[in-house]
Amino acid sequence: MKTINLSTVFLLFSLFFANPGVAEDDVTAGARVYNENCSRCHNARPVQEFHADEWSVIVPHMREKAHLSGTEAKQLEAFIAVTLTADKVSQVADEQTEDIDGPALVQKFACAACHKMNGTGGALGPSLDDVVQRMGREDVIKKILEPTFNNPSSSMPRFPLSEAEAAAITDTFK
Ligand code: HEC
Ligand code: HEC
Repeated sequence: MKTINLSTVFLLFSLFFANPGVAEDDVTAGARVYNENCSRCHNARPVQEFHADEWSVIVPHMREKAHLSGTEAKQLEAFIAVTLTADKVSQVADEQTEDIDGPALVQKFACAACHKMNGTGGALGPSLDDVVQRMGREDVIKKILEPTFNNPSSSMPRFPLSEAEAAAITDTFK
């Protein structure tokens, strides 16, 4: 119990710290903006390939190229900010999955912005409907925690998730 609360606190802290005042919905919308726009001209670039200060130069530049509105650019920034905090939070280890709400995490980190789930969703990544059968549970958990483990140029972002949270997410795909 203690560890779960701790990871929740870390998560909320990092979200707040990364972008005070940015609503969770902006992160979801930002992932969608990314899925829809950022692989149109070149392969989608992994968020963690660049530092926050580099992104603050890249986003306005690509905003112009992709013709994003001010709102879309702000959502994109919120999405990038959350994935850039992944390092700090994914070090929190907890073993108990019972109290973790997998579907809520799937929603929160906008998996469906880039992946088809139950037949609908983005097309940047493969469908997740049969992913556990294809990859096996352990590799899906590994992929969520470290998207580059089987693909060094993966454009799948890292999220601030603990191992137990990644497991809870994986178990929603069965
Ligand atoms: C209309 C075409 C177009 C779209 C849409 C587009 N880009 Fe680009 N992007 C480019 C071109 C051209 C370059 C390389 C030349 C340049 O920097 O202008 C580039 C370069 C980049 C780079 C490399 C910068 C560097 O310094 O190495 C990143 C990162 C990037 N884009 C991210 C994005 C993101 C994120 C999005 C979605 C918001 C996006 N791009 C949408 C055309 C596009
Ligand atoms: C910004 C887009 C984006 C978001 C958001 C995203 N992914 Fe991905 N994901 C990708 C891309 C692109 C790939 C394929 C490239 C690769 O293998 O890394 C991928 C691959 C995967 C794979 C491997 C699938 C296979 O068949 O090889 C899994 C599992 C996965 N993602 C799970 C998730 C989960 C769970 C979430 C939400 C927590 C998520 N992804 C959010 C872009 C995204």
